[in-house]
Amino acid sequence: MNIVYWAAAALFGGLGAFMVFTAGWEFPPMEAEQIGYRGVAMEQVTNPRILEKIEARNQVPEVGYQPEPGGPRASEVYENVQVLGDLSEDQFNTLMVNITQWVSPDEGCAYCHNEENMAEEGMYTKTVARRMLQMNAAINKEWQDHVKDTGVTCYTCHRGQPVPSEVWFRNSSPVMAGGRLGVETLGQNVAATPVGYTSLPFDPFSDYLSGTDPIRVIPEHALARPGGASIQQTEKTYGLMMHFSGSLGVNCTYCHNSRAFVGWSQSPPARATAWYGIQMVRDVNGKYIVPLTPVFPANRLGPHGDVAKVNCATCHQGVNKPLLGAQMLKDYPELNAVKVSD
Ligand code: HEC
Ligand code: HEC
Ligand code: HEC
Ligand code: HEC
Repeated sequence: MNIVYWAAAALFGGLGAFMVFTAGWEFPPMEAEQIGYRGVAMEQVTNPRILEKIEARNQVPEVGYQPEPGGPRASEVYENVQVLGDLSEDQFNTLMVNITQWVSPDEGCAYCHNEENMAEEGMYTKTVARRMLQMNAAINKEWQDHVKDTGVTCYTCHRGQPVPSEVWFRNSSPVMAGGRLGVETLGQNVAATPVGYTSLPFDPFSDYLSGTDPIRVIPEHALARPGGASIQQTEKTYGLMMHFSGSLGVNCTYCHNSRAFVGWSQSPPARATAWYGIQMVRDVNGKYIVPLTPVFPANRLGPHGDVAKVNCATCHQGVNKPLLGAQMLKDYPELNAVKVSD
């Protein structure tokens, strides 16, 4: 009897110590808010002790100088202006200062320019930045169903660094596919960050956020067959859902009614916003980011030669509305004056 007791104590003590010294665990007490009808277990669980950290991470930079809209156009003043030509000279220069603050504050203008000749092409960062300017404006104008009037700026993703902290590569995390102890992982069965430390497939992104595979778990036939959801597709769908929850810092029931996960008519409205988010991310990756692959140097590409791409976390970074819903874009209307063409 005593032996069983001590064995159990050692086991749970060991487990507790393991939790204290490893990342990814949060400690009680949590706060739970009921957001649905009684009995359907629709709750939003939050940890009050990490709120401060989240708030600190999501502060918007102070608004600086507001440029004059009048005067000669940038296209008349400068030599090689392809997308910002309609801005006034003052707006153009202010925007250059702002994007430097948002993307490359440590490296300065030289991150995208040969400072001897600002008109010169040649640095890949300038080519990428021009396309990013178009992408940013396209998100704000074409994807209002998702970003509403809050919109996005370069800062939403970049937060003062050239490579946003939340990006993904094909099949690269957390251990290279085929990697562990010489055993083929089949892209799953390792505790992986993108899917909330579960052993679900750790790259649900290639098929669902770059590709356009249907996000489904319920087969329409008794046995999986073409057109129905395979077991792998089901697992990948759950992997993607873990990513949604983690990226937004919400529970599944923020978007689903627990009595019928599939049913749209019973889902909270956030699910429809999320649906537009999926289409938007596919568009951003497919139309803007993936076609830039040959422009990037090899050291920016993933182990399979693909470019770093966007998922929900790239903008959201742990909160339901990026930057806690701050409407940063309205202070930088120049960003929406960019010419968006394909
Ligand atoms: C993140 C990349 C990036 C940074 C950093 C950056 N620029 Fe630019 N810059 C561009 C792009 C892209 C263009 C071309 C815009 C277009 O085609 O409409 C450009 C064009 C220019 C031009 C026009 C040159 C010409 O004659 O065609 C000037 C001047 C300029 N930038 C100044 C600056 C200054 C000054 C800074 C630093 C305060 C700066 N830029 C920082 C990306 C950048
Ligand atoms: C939706 C998220 C998102 C937004 C908004 C965004 N970017 Fe990016 N940006 C990315 C991703 C993803 C990459 C690829 C990362 C890499 O460089 O490997 C990237 C790369 C870049 C790079 C290349 C950096 C490097 O060192 O390789 C530049 C320059 C850049 N962006 C400028 C901008 C500018 C300027 C804006 C605003 C007009 C902007 N970005 C808005 C997601 C975004
Ligand atoms: C931010 C909103 C959001 C969160 C959080 C979220 N989901 Fe989803 N979920 C969606 C959307 C949107 C779809 C529909 C995708 C489609 O039809 O293209 C979906 C689809 C599903 C489906 C597939 C239904 C079918 O048609 O076969 C299941 C099951 C599901 N989610 C379960 C979960 C679980 C479990 C969690 C928590 C781990 C979760 N979801 C978290 C938005 C969300
Ligand atoms: C380009 C940046 C960006 C990306 C990428 C992005 N979102 Fe959003 N999302 C936003 C913005 C901005 C808002 C705030 C809109 C508003 O003010 O209501 C938002 C709002 C939402 C909301 C509504 C939250 C609420 O409380 O009403 C949901 C749900 C959501 N996003 C889900 C997703 C999902 C799921 C993905 C990935 C498939 C995603 N988002 C990718 C920018 C983004």
